[in-house]
Amino acid sequence: MTREFPAGFRWGTATAAYQVEGSTTADGRGPSIWDTFAAQPGRVLDGATGERACEHYLRYAEDIGLLNELGIPHYRFSVAWSRVMPDGRTIEPRGLAFYDRLVDKLLERGITPMLTLYHWDLPQALQDAGGWPNRDLAGYFADYAQTVHKALGDRVRQWTTINEPFCAAFIGYGNGDHAPGIQDEGAALVAAHNLLLAHGHATRAIRANGGDGQEVSIVLNFSPVLTDVDDSAHREAARKFDFLHNRFFLDPLLGRGYPAALLEDLAHLGTLEPAIADGDLDLIAQPLDLLGVNYYAPTRAVPLDAPEADSNCPLPGLRGMDVQPPRGDVTSFGWEQRPESFTDLLLWLHEHCPELPLVVAENGAAFADEVVDGRVHDEKRVRYFAEHIGAVHDAIERGADVRGYLAWSLLDNFEWARGYTQRFGIVHVDFETQERVLKDSARFFADVVARNGL
Ligand code: FCB
Repeated sequence: MTREFPAGFRWGTATAAYQVEGSTTADGRGPSIWDTFAAQPGRVLDGATGERACEHYLRYAEDIGLLNELGIPHYRFSVAWSRVMPDGRTIEPRGLAFYDRLVDKLLERGITPMLTLYHWDLPQALQDAGGWPNRDLAGYFADYAQTVHKALGDRVRQWTTINEPFCAAFIGYGNGDHAPGIQDEGAALVAAHNLLLAHGHATRAIRANGGDGQEVSIVLNFSPVLTDVDDSAHREAARKFDFLHNRFFLDPLLGRGYPAALLEDLAHLGTLEPAIADGDLDLIAQPLDLLGVNYYAPTRAVPLDAPEADSNCPLPGLRGMDVQPPRGDVTSFGWEQRPESFTDLLLWLHEHCPELPLVVAENGAAFADEVVDGRVHDEKRVRYFAEHIGAVHDAIERGADVRGYLAWSLLDNFEWARGYTQRFGIVHVDFETQERVLKDSARFFADVVARNGL
């Protein structure tokens, strides 16, 4: 029996510019914070960089050919700001031309492009101007959004402003595990606010450009919080992490402002409330056509007895809670596999913002794959996809308005601070020869797409 998805359900795969493109100095591209960060010793595992990555800049046609062969009808990619505007502000037509070719090639193969404007690769020149803690970046981002939209808006209908502002702000500027590698929690909170402002400005700019049937969204990453004990201390620990991870960005986007209890949790850092100017919250709350949802794993929370001690979360100043190790089956990344948390998340989102359609913009798992006789038998990933796509189906059956599912990722790629050690692709990439091999999970996913179900 097939568990069918609603008609018109959008199936696709996702990638991001810095993770796949390579060619980091081609056609006038300027350095991004990830080029700078990866070049610093000790930042990325094995000293890996995105210089070659999957050579997608050169091999995009071949990669689109794979999507075509698999019958996967949507492709989510991101545009590198530093290609389009090497210094963050001045247009480089050759950089823009790459995305023009990419979009045309997708359309030629009958694949719908889903474009993300910002997937973490800030032009280094703008970091030199202060990075996301500098409020001016919101305006620069709107100019960039408008430029890309003017060039591609006649062919691209699905626009995402920013991918996972949580990571861009809190991992980039809070614990410093990601570029630009800064550890300043006060600045991280201001960065978070400015990323939301950037989203608001860009959304307005895109809509001002016009375009038929256009959809504007943002992609947020969510992690449902679990506790072992149901008492008030555990509930409060879970509440803190939940508000930081799942509501910091969502609630202002919905026009509800930052959750009051979270503002209190973070008040001792002293930077967020002063950063909120008159009119900011209205600007942030531009109506969204869709919400992009990234889900990988839940978080387990416990109370922390010492009230002044920093927590073990990307923003350590969120005190009074700690993150516990994952349980049961984990991926090679160390992320807990818990599909029922995915169903819970989608149902919670449906309850929290019933009027907002959801699209799963990323979901997937890393495992240590091996090519044997030209095949990759990645049973664990096949199982992960089957369980998690099943979890989405459960949520839809119980009322959640989920319109699509994008697998992360089309290709094994540069997995940020983990370099090339974490393979998330449904297509295996040999980083020496650049050979692509379809994994069993690619065939499995193609079958799900063809049946529109499991
Ligand atoms: C998400 C990122 C994506 C990828 C996956 C594994 O947080 O958006 O680029 O790294 O995690």
